[in-house]
Order: sequence, then C-alpha cells, then structure tokens
Amino acid sequence: MDVRSEHYNLAKWYDIIESALDDPDSEPIVNIAEEAASEYDAIFVGGGAGGRFGAAFLRALGGRPLIIDAWPFLGGSCPHQACVPHHLFSDVAAEMDLWRWYSGRFFFPDWDPDKASILEMVQLFRDGRSYAHAFMNWQTKEQLNVEFMLNARARIIDSRTVEAGGRRFTGQNMVIGTGAHVKVPQIPGLEMHGVYDFATLIEDLDYEPGKCVVIGGGKTAVEYGSFFNATGCETTIVTRSGIMQTPSLHHVDDDVRDYVTEGMRKRGITILEGAEPVEVRGSGTVSEVVVRLRSGETLTLGTDFVFVGTGEAPNTGWVLDALPGLKSDDAGAIIVDRRMLTSIPNVYAIGDAIGAPMEMFKARKCGVTAARNIMGIDSEFDFSEYPDFLHSTYEVTWVGLSEQEARQQYDDVIIIQMPPYVKGLDTEHLPLPLAERTMLYGFTQPELSGFQKLVADGRPRRVLGAHHVGYGAKDSFQYLDYLIHRPQGLTIDELGDMNELFLNPEHFIQLSRLRAGNTKLVDL
Ligand SMILES: Cc1cc2nc3c(=O)[nH]c(=O)nc-3n(C[C@H](O)[C@H](O)[C@H](O)COP(=O)(O)OP(=O)(O)OC[C@H]3O[C@@H](n4cnc5c(N)ncnc54)[C@H](O)[C@@H]3O)c2cc1C
Ligand SMILES: NC(=O)c1ccc[n+]([C@@H]2O[C@H](COP(=O)([O-])OP(=O)(O)OC[C@H]3O[C@@H](n4cnc5c(N)ncnc54)[C@H](OP(=O)(O)O)[C@@H]3O)[C@@H](O)[C@H]2O)c1
Repeated sequence: MDVRSEHYNLAKWYDIIESALDDPDSEPIVNIAEEAASEYDAIFVGGGAGGRFGAAFLRALGGRPLIIDAWPFLGGSCPHQACVPHHLFSDVAAEMDLWRWYSGRFFFPDWDPDKASILEMVQLFRDGRSYAHAFMNWQTKEQLNVEFMLNARARIIDSRTVEAGGRRFTGQNMVIGTGAHVKVPQIPGLEMHGVYDFATLIEDLDYEPGKCVVIGGGKTAVEYGSFFNATGCETTIVTRSGIMQTPSLHHVDDDVRDYVTEGMRKRGITILEGAEPVEVRGSGTVSEVVVRLRSGETLTLGTDFVFVGTGEAPNTGWVLDALPGLKSDDAGAIIVDRRMLTSIPNVYAIGDAIGAPMEMFKARKCGVTAARNIMGIDSEFDFSEYPDFLHSTYEVTWVGLSEQEARQQYDDVIIIQMPPYVKGLDTEHLPLPLAERTMLYGFTQPELSGFQKLVADGRPRRVLGAHHVGYGAKDSFQYLDYLIHRPQGLTIDELGDMNELFLNPEHFIQLSRLRAGNTKLVDL
C-alpha cells in the first residue's frame, strides 16, 4: 500500500492499522520518496521509541532516514503493549484503591467487585490503542517528513543493505532498534492457558482472573501485581530476590521500599521473597503454582492466572546472525560505545536492543545520539544516572542516591523527610504529606498519605537524592534530575529559594526553606 501521496486523517490511519493488525498477510505500508537519491544516510531497523526519535532527529538535521518496522505503526512496544497499558492499569489501580478504602463512605458507592474487571480494562486498552498509533504514523509522515516502510519485517543483508517488503534498500549507516521480548523462565507448565506476560495479557486475555500468582520482583511484577490486586483479584507475588531489589532497579531507598511493600501487604497482596516457582500445574489450564520458599519448603498456591514479570531480553538474535562482526554481551545486548556505535563502523544500536535500563528516555535519546553522530555531530550519551519511577497503587519516584548509598560515600548526610523520623513521635496521627490525590487519606488514614525523603551532603549543602511515594511528582523529578546532576549541583538553599505551588506533590521546597537558615544543616 503506497501512502506517499496520500494525506490521511487519523480515522483513516486507525482503520489501516487495525486491518493490518487483523490480517497477518496484509501488505506493507510504504511511504517512500521514489524521486530522491536511492541511498539513505541511515536505515533504522525498528521504528519504536528509539528508531522513530532517531530518524526524526536525523531528518531535522537535514539527513535522509528510512524506518522499517514489522508492525503497521510507528512507536513500537510502548504504546502497543508496555508503558501505555501499564499507565492505564496503574491509574485505574489508584482509583480502585481509593474506592476500596472508602467503600460506602462519604460519596463512594459500595465496592462492587463485578465492576472492577481486569478483562474490561485490557479490552478498553486493546480497542483504543490504535488511535495513538494513528497519530504517530500521521505525525511521522506529515510533520516530521520521515520515510518509512511499515508492516514489513526487515532482513539485514550486510551492514549497508536491508530487505523488506520485497525491496532492497541501501544506507550509509544502519541503526538497530529492534527492542526486547519477555525472558520466559524455565519453569515447567508455563505454556498452559492462563499464563500471561505484559504482551500476551493485551493480545490474548479472554477471561476474568480471580486469583493470581505474579512471578518476579521488579517494576513489571509490582505494577501489574498492584493492578490485579486492586481489582479484587487475590494476588501473590513470588520473587527470587527481595522485592524492588533486582539489579535493574538502582537507588531504591530502603524506607521507600518498606513503605511501598508494607502498603502492598496492607492492601492484601501476599509477597513471598526469596521464593522461586518450580512448577505450574493444571490440565491444559493453570490451576496451581508450586513454589520453593526461602526455607527450602514447598508451597502450592491455587490460582487461575499466572503473570510472568521476569524481565526482558534484547531482540537481537537474528541481527547478530546477519552481521557476524557485531559484538554482544551474554544476554544478547549489542555492545555500543557512548556514541551508540557498535563494533561495526557504520552500524549503531539503540534502546532495549543494547540492554538495561529499558526505559523510554534512554531509547529515544540513544536514537538522537546515533542520528547526531551519523550527521557528523560528535555526541555522547551517558545513561548511568537518571530519574526513575514505578507504580504500586502509588506513583513511586526517585532520583540520585538513596540514604544508604549516601551514607557509604559521605560522612555528613542530612535527611529531610515527611513524615519526620523522630523516635516515639506519634506520626500515625500526622496528616502529612498531603497533596492532590492524598487529601482524603490525610484526613482519614494519615499513614496512607505517602512518604518523602531528601538526602543531602551537609557541608556543601548539596542535594544527593530525592525519593517520593504519592502522586504527581514525576514531573518535578525530571527537572530535579537535571539540577542535581549539573556540575554545580543543587543546594538546599537554592531549593528553599524556589517558588512552590502549594499544595505541591513533593514538599521539598518548603522543607528545605525551614532548614536553609541553619549555618550547620541538620536533619528535619
Ligand atoms: C510492561 C512494561 C511497561 C513499561 N513502562 C514504561 C514506562 O512507563 N516508562 C518508560 O520509560 N519505559 C517503560 N517501559 C520500557 C519501554 O517500553 C522500552 O524501554 C521502550 O519501548 C524501548 O524502545 P525501543 O525503541 O528500544 O524498542 P521498541 O519500542 O520495542 O521498538 C522496537 C521495534 O522494532 C521492531 N522490530 C523488531 N524486529 C524487527 C524486524 N525484524 N523488522 C522490522 N522491525 C522490527 C518492532 O516491531 C518494534 O516496533 C516498559 C516496559 C514494559 C515491558
Ligand atoms: N518505567 C516503568 O514503569 C517500567 C515498567 C516495566 C518495565 N520497565 C523496564 O523494563 C525492563 C524489564 O523490567 P521487569 O520488571 O520486567 O524486569 P527486571 O527488572 O529485569 O526484573 C525481573 C524480575 O524477575 C525475576 N526473575 C528473572 N528470572 C527469573 C526466574 N527464572 N525465576 C524467578 N524469577 C526470575 C528477577 O529476579 P532476580 O532479581 O532474582 O534476578 C526480577 O525480580 C527493565 O529495564 C525495567 O526498568 C520499566
């Protein structure tokens, strides 16, 4: 289907995408300028977060990119199966959480488990996701002026040549942005009906789960487990390491972890740490999971739904086969330098294909870094430090060092925290922190209203880290990340001098101001 000279609206793009998704034999969607020179500055294999942003940036710099993607839309896994549904589910979990705490109280109706349906939310997302896809196709074609071939699997011939949709394309450079797939553990029985991961949940869920076992202890496990539980689906999380302690999650403060996991338990989630599932049983459909506990004993959990949240592995096997000189690590992540250049001089790799952290900012900025270098602008991207978040029924956000990390590196660590830690103080009655979305909790169950901690180095008065459990802090943490990681950093005095929008989700500005007058900083 040649769309080059068409200027479709969003509804038309939606129809094209939906029919292509319904028909595995549908033809490629081709937006290629035949009249232009046949060689591209770069061929982006994969038009997900990394490929789309990289190609758009390269085009903006005056270059000629081509994106090839197997899906009939641009944007990749995030809006199709990963971040966007997870945000819908986490948002819904927060709403349901409120409803369950206040069932029949104030203006809340009685909690009705029949109305809180995992299947209905999955269907809601499934039915609506192609509108975002439609927008990205429209924007990439009409506003960003990037050429693409969609709905066509790429085959790499050599480091300059790619085949897709029966055509051969050459480029001076190639950018591999093929994403990642779920790393399914070797546990017998996982092939049964009733076992899902974040992707198959969206594509295949066909019943309402009543009882769930989540395998894993990272973001995916916590986020989906919290959602399932919030709907009233009895949830057990089985995690090999401590929950929120897997290596892909760095800088998680111990008090934050305790607040979040205690909150999850309070809401009825069973968390089995140091535990490993050894077998999933059932006759065609899952009915139980056998778990080996930390003590060595086994426990059999009855269930009708198993959710696998055991991490992701790069989609690079076929790329490594096609480009024998391409170096990767043991997990298949393509090895790149800070310019995103691989071991092959004109081949770059970006996003999940180069391993953790598997986050949107990283994928997009990897793409931009590759584009700059391809266009002759020397550019490096260091993603070793970044702001981070996950959802339970809360939004949990952090940046910089945890208190424990700070104490290992500095000898004058100052903590500014809400609620404050003062031995013996009856903080169970303290309706703080408060902000939008936690006001009701503050006035009825103060312990549910969140937790905030700022970590500083006392003598230079510099902020080392910030940690937040509540709602709405993600936005400010993006800017805090920038400020605290500048060479000059951010001091408590500068923070206290900022203008808060009271009741601000994080209270760090006003709390810092209360301390900034002190010549020698002390805890608050
Ligand atoms: C459950 C879940 C929730 C997440 N939530 C968040 C979040 O809230 N915030 C956040 O920052 N990150 C989140 N992430 C991570 C984020 O989704 C990824 O880091 C990001 O999508 C990676 O982008 P990418 O471009 O590397 O890969 P993708 O966006 O996955 O793109 C890869 C593209 O390559 C294409 N492709 C693969 N093979 C071929 C081939 N042979 N030919 C042609 N095309 C091919 C695919 O079709 C796909 O479009 C989440 C991840 C998961 C699993
Ligand atoms: N920003 C977001 O909201 C968001 C959401 C989801 C995912 N992501 C990103 O996507 C990537 C994947 O996240 P993830 O949470 O799926 O994976 P992850 O962070 O890699 O965590 C995987 C979890 O599964 C466990 N596990 C792995 N193999 C196992 C096995 N064989 N048996 C039992 N347990 C096993 C791990 O335990 P061990 O620690 O013991 O190995 C760990 O707890 C990460 O980079 C993450 O940052 C981002």
